[in-house]
Amino acid sequence: MLSNLRKRRSIRKYLSMPVPQHVIEQFAETLLRSPSSRNIQPWQFIFVQNPKTINELSRAKAHGSSFLAGAPLCVVILADTEGCDVWIEDCAISAILLQMQVESMPGMGSCWIQIRLREDPDGRSSEDVVREILNIPEHLRVASMIAIGYADEALLPISADELPVGKIHAERFSV
Ligand SMILES: Cc1cc2nc3c(=O)[nH]c(=O)nc-3n(C[C@H](O)[C@H](O)[C@H](O)COP(=O)(O)O)c2cc1C
Repeated sequence: MLSNLRKRRSIRKYLSMPVPQHVIEQFAETLLRSPSSRNIQPWQFIFVQNPKTINELSRAKAHGSSFLAGAPLCVVILADTEGCDVWIEDCAISAILLQMQVESMPGMGSCWIQIRLREDPDGRSSEDVVREILNIPEHLRVASMIAIGYADEALLPISADELPVGKIHAERFSV
């Protein structure tokens, strides 16, 4: 885990190579094994590979989603918030577990695309844009999308001496 974290960076450029079906199945299993508060499992996941749909999704935000157009796979993370007060946390956990599973696959990379609380270039809620494109019912919230593919960029790992070590405290908060 730590060796994968040491090299992990957000990847926003992808080769046109599709993600093999057996790898997609591993991603699905990873998501379904995510821990959730009270084991409510409020999430739902949409795997999108259709390039036309991915292209439409890439316009869901005014900033920070256009690169999705070049990704072969997008996983959209949704939640049923009924009876679940911590769906944001549950969705975030599934998202990062998926990203770490991607990281463990040779040559692959991913990037989180925030949807909740974001807007498209016309000021429309990004959630509503995604909901319309993917026919998502009103009672589900759209948390995020994870762009996934084989990396077409190599970003330098963050070195140990760049880490904000002052954010770690022992026993009590210290300045
Ligand atoms: C909650 C969250 C939301 C993010 N939203 C976006 C996004 O909408 N678009 C994007 O390009 N990157 C997004 N990112 C990626 C961050 O920009 C990235 O993780 C951060 O700059 C650190 O870079 P690194 O992942 O390469 O270490 C998001 C990351 C997180 C954790």
